[in-house]
Amino acid sequence: MTLLRVEDLRVSFATEDGTVQAVDGISYELQRGRTLGIVGESGSGKTVAALSVLGLTRLEGATVSGHIRFEGRGDLLALGERELRAVRGNEIAMIFQDPLSALHPLYRVGAQIVEAIRAHRNTTKAKARVRAIELLGLVGIPDPARRVDAYPHELSGGQRQRAMIAMALSGDPTLLIADEPTTALDVTVQAQILALLSRLQRERGMALVLVTHDLGVVAEMADDIAVMYAGQIVESAPAERVFSAPEHPYTWGLLRSIPTLNGPREELLEPIPGSPPSPLAPPPGCRFHPRCPYAEPEHARTEPSLEPVPGQPEHRVACLLEHQTRRRLWQELRDGSRGDAPEQALATATPAAPVEDPERAA
Ligand SMILES: Nc1ncnc2c1ncn2[C@@H]1O[C@H](COP(=O)(O)OP(=O)(O)O)[C@@H](O)[C@H]1O
Ligand SMILES: [Mg+2]
Repeated sequence: MTLLRVEDLRVSFATEDGTVQAVDGISYELQRGRTLGIVGESGSGKTVAALSVLGLTRLEGATVSGHIRFEGRGDLLALGERELRAVRGNEIAMIFQDPLSALHPLYRVGAQIVEAIRAHRNTTKAKARVRAIELLGLVGIPDPARRVDAYPHELSGGQRQRAMIAMALSGDPTLLIADEPTTALDVTVQAQILALLSRLQRERGMALVLVTHDLGVVAEMADDIAVMYAGQIVESAPAERVFSAPEHPYTWGLLRSIPTLNGPREELLEPIPGSPPSPLAPPPGCRFHPRCPYAEPEHARTEPSLEPVPGQPEHRVACLLEHQTRRRLWQELRDGSRGDAPEQALATATPAAPVEDPERAA
């Protein structure tokens, strides 16, 4: 059953330097209880796309068009602010990279969760507090009856992220959007938080949109993956296809730059040369052509559209190269003599699944 259907979403901001086209015509679908990974380098429009689902880009003087259809609520872009507020925090909740930006430093964690609960449910403070303690326990905070009275600074980074997740769960969402939920955390804690999200998603049948710049993060968790570049989706497919038969040269670059568990975290194995284009003036033709090792002169003139890969209706790619050419190039890359070929990088880069959540077991 389709829970969320985003159709031709476009978001632009008027700035002093001109129009920033942050999201430029993306479409995707998410079924109930499924996980979609949205992956791309910094600046590709992931956060703006995610915030739009909650109607939060409206507040920033942005121009938004397209449709965001959410089961039972129609087009979220057409809702009034009051109706939207009823959806936000209830059916759809969001967690961010930096829990400190969402937790007020001067209020106890429990009090903030109580407030979140009471914002959406007509219940007493005492009952909401019981629920807050329950939620803190659910997300693996040890001794929740005591920790409920802690201030955010008294919790570790990982525990603050757990508290954020508890707050997000307070409205019993059917859709959780997690925007780089582990980017600020060290590798071990990152794996624990991903394991927690994965467990909650399964147990509660939530749909999850997991936004990250790191393909390694979604490797084990996502059912489907959408790769974003310069405000557009350039490849979308079931996760296993993205890792076994990726079609876009940009995706190949992302695969090769997955950090390993052993290596220094922010050090890329092989960063994609060049940098993403300015959203003020994206290049003509294929937006990736200035960085693409396989670009032909014509790619600077023709804009590719997202088309199904032959024989793979679920796998779509926006690339002007011939399918056969892409297959050959990927096979060459994969079989290349480099010691850190993509599969090997991948084998050491998938922290999510095998790690059990230790605080849960405790
Ligand atoms: N409020 C805003 N005003 C102007 N530009 C913005 C605003 N928010 C985001 N942008 C721009 O939109 C682009 C996409 O940003 P973002 O969605 O945050 O990327 P990502 O999350 O993929 O790193 C960036 O170029 C960013 O600078
Ligand atoms: Mg972002």
